[in-house]
Amino acid sequence: MNNDKTSASQLSELTQDIDRILITEIEIKNRIIEIGRQISNDYHGKNPLLIGVLKGVLFFLADLLRCITIPVEVDFLAVSSYSTEARNKGVVRLVKDLDIPIQDRHILFVEDVVDTGLTLNYLLKNLKMRNPTSIQVCTLFDKSKHRLVSLPLSYVGFELPDRFVVGYGLDFREKYRNLPFVGLLKPSVLAREMDGE
Ligand code: PRP
Repeated sequence: MNNDKTSASQLSELTQDIDRILITEIEIKNRIIEIGRQISNDYHGKNPLLIGVLKGVLFFLADLLRCITIPVEVDFLAVSSYSTEARNKGVVRLVKDLDIPIQDRHILFVEDVVDTGLTLNYLLKNLKMRNPTSIQVCTLFDKSKHRLVSLPLSYVGFELPDRFVVGYGLDFREKYRNLPFVGLLKPSVLAREMDGE
């Protein structure tokens, strides 16, 4: 079987659930090139460690790394909520810690989306206790209307509307992350998924 055709038909199966594309693949690509250029200038000579929080950041981080032209290292964290209540209080559980020590390092924390800011706030506090030289945050998407804690974001790709969006790492029940663009799910799809609960 032709692999190109297989992957194209899988994508169209997901695309048919999309109501409207909000940010196109090319817009994402161009913005990441700009951010990569900025980071390469700002961190010249600093050998930064980029830290991503799994899983949504996977796509952005992989593309961003290839747009950065200076030496960098990369590591990952994975978090899980104890409960919805705990998460609402900004408490998350580290289920995968860093492999690389961060003391005296320049850290660039990379997120796919900052929403309430609670996850990031918790993780930044945790990382600061490990005495890095600096920590800055880079997020591709910002849902600033949802923010519950004020956080300094040094690099932001796009502001997202107060809507449920999927694609380019953003999921709905673990689905749609692999869409190359960001779009709105059809209301009928949302209703169907809710019915299936
Ligand atoms: C997303 C994102 C952040 C968090 C932001 O992860 O990657 O880690 O939500 O939300 P907040 O600002 O309201 O705390 P999610 O929990 O969706 O997991 P995923 O990356 O595996 O999709």
